[in-house]
Amino acid sequence: MQTIPLIDVKAQYAPLIPELEARFRSVLEDANFVRGENYWAFEEEAAAYLGVSRAIGVANGTDALVLVLDAMEIGPGDEVICPAFTFYATAESIARRGATPVFADIDPVTLNVDPQDVAARVTSRTRAIMPVHLFGRPAPVHDLVGLGVPVIEDAAQAFGAPGVAQLGAISTYSFYPTKNLFCLGDGGLVATSDEELADRVRMLSFHGSRDKKDFDFVGYNSRLDEMQAAFLRLFLEHIDEWNRGRREAAARYAELGLGELVELPEDDPGHIYHLFVCRSPERAAIRAALTEAGIASAEYYTTPLHLQPALRFLGWEPGSLPETERAATDTFSVPLWPGIPLEAQERVVETVRSAVGVTSRA
Ligand SMILES: Cc1ncc(COP(=O)(O)O)c(C=O)c1O
Repeated sequence: MQTIPLIDVKAQYAPLIPELEARFRSVLEDANFVRGENYWAFEEEAAAYLGVSRAIGVANGTDALVLVLDAMEIGPGDEVICPAFTFYATAESIARRGATPVFADIDPVTLNVDPQDVAARVTSRTRAIMPVHLFGRPAPVHDLVGLGVPVIEDAAQAFGAPGVAQLGAISTYSFYPTKNLFCLGDGGLVATSDEELADRVRMLSFHGSRDKKDFDFVGYNSRLDEMQAAFLRLFLEHIDEWNRGRREAAARYAELGLGELVELPEDDPGHIYHLFVCRSPERAAIRAALTEAGIASAEYYTTPLHLQPALRFLGWEPGSLPETERAATDTFSVPLWPGIPLEAQERVVETVRSAVGVTSRA
């Protein structure tokens, strides 16, 4: 029995291996491994793609968030509103700065932060709102900017989603190998059209310096590697085609009838399906059947951030974010990547069908 992975990154880059090897050789030739030609060129190309004036390559998506908060001088005594149904790094970055993450509940349809709940949590100490474009679906940034607080878009899961990076003050990305735009290791990016903020992020990522001689801030050493930048320049050429492939695969799950068996993510033209996340009260039985059939699946954020041990000091109790906590019990993802074969998707749907006890359609 052939197994089906959740994400097949290798299938994405396999056709590009000869070109990746050529780019690897070219970096070896140049022997300029930190802040080399590709680092600067990728920043320019990424900024142009995202429609902003500046992009800064950093070591990973978590650093991108910490650097932005630091550049905005957000720290002790400040509050930042974010969802609790997201990867830990979102709130970790706020806590790392000594600021207070304030969690808002999610909209049960989009799984993104609920703007009304965010509005209710704004106080005189709120310094920023940090929505996450969760699973590749654009968060309601338009509604959030209206609240009059700077919006930091955590776009780690949504590079290339329409509208992302346009309305918020600044956006951050991760190039972890499973992301929509990925590299072959760790990498991250900060994007903004605020020149002053961009300068501060750049300097902070370089020990708080412009030239490594004079040090204006206590900073970090967090830069995108030249090698990763060389690979990312190639992958950036393919991001639209890859995101289209993800949307096609998502549409095909609906055509194959998966929506008769579980609740599918409601489509939105901007959704680029970083993950294909469904909901079902029968999640455990479905996942057991998938595992039995050699098909990978995953659950996300089963302990939402407000209940994580490291953040217990914030004092949140179970029951305080009902939609977040419900999503933690019934969401799960099934295999999806650009170019996933039809037969793989058919096998997923048939296996889910057998698990929820519905007979095959004629
Ligand atoms: C929503 C979100 N924010 C931040 C991060 C952190 O990115 P990285 O793993 O590159 O540090 C990730 C991914 O891992 C993420 O999914």
